[in-house]
Amino acid sequence: MGIRVSVPPKGIYHAYPTLVAVVTAKLGDRMNVMSAAWHTALSFEPFLYGVAIAPSRFTHHMIEESGEFTINFLSFQDAHYITLFGRTSGRDIDKFKVYRVEIREPVKVQAPVLAVAYAAYECKVVQAVTTGDHTFFVGEVLAAHEREDGFDEKGLPILKVLDPALYLGRNRYLSIREAVPIKMDLEEARKKIESR
Ligand SMILES: Cc1cc2nc3c(=O)[nH]c(=O)nc-3n(C[C@H](O)[C@H](O)[C@H](O)COP(=O)(O)O)c2cc1C
Repeated sequence: MGIRVSVPPKGIYHAYPTLVAVVTAKLGDRMNVMSAAWHTALSFEPFLYGVAIAPSRFTHHMIEESGEFTINFLSFQDAHYITLFGRTSGRDIDKFKVYRVEIREPVKVQAPVLAVAYAAYECKVVQAVTTGDHTFFVGEVLAAHEREDGFDEKGLPILKVLDPALYLGRNRYLSIREAVPIKMDLEEARKKIESR
C-alpha cells in the first residue's frame, strides 16, 4: 500500500466520515441554526462539549453574545436539514421560518432544541478559544435530550432506530442503519495480535 505524504499537509477529510452537530443559538427573539462537522466531547465531569465555529458565521456572534448554544444530532432521513442549515446563512434568511423547522422547548438555556433531533445537548459557554480561523466554543452540557427508544440498556445508540447521518464531506452522507457493530474488547484485540 503506497502512502502519500504532503508537506505542507493537503486535505481536510482524513477524520471523516463524522457525525455533524447541528448548532442552534438564540439572541433576544432571534433564533438561528447551522451545521458543524468540527465538534467533540471533552470531559465527563463536568460534562463538556465543544464546537469550532468560524467568526464569519452568523451563529458565531449569537453564541458569543448569548453565552449559550445547543448541539443536535440528526438521522440520515433528515440529512437534508444539515445541507440547508450549512449552506445558507441566518444573515439572509430566518432558517426556522423558511425551512419550517419545529422546535422543542429547552429546559436550561434559551437556544431551541430541534424537534427532529434524536439527541441534543443544551450548553452554556465556559470557554471560547481562538483556534486559527475558528473559535472553539467549550460548552458545559446542562441538559441532554435523547429518543427514549434510541439507546440500549448500556446507553449505546441503536443504529436501526436512529440511523445517525454520517457526513463524508462535499455534500455526501452515509446511512449506517444496516451496519453490524463488531465487539472488540481488550481480549479480542490481543487475540488478533497473537494470531498474526
Ligand atoms: C456538513 C457541514 C459541516 C460544516 N461544518 C462547519 C464547522 O464545523 N464549523 C463552521 O464554522 N462551519 C461549518 N459549516 C459551514 C456553516 O454551517 C455555514 O457557513 C452556515 O451557512 C453558517 O450559517 P450561519 O451564517 O447562519 O451561522 C459546515 C457546513 C456543512 C454543510
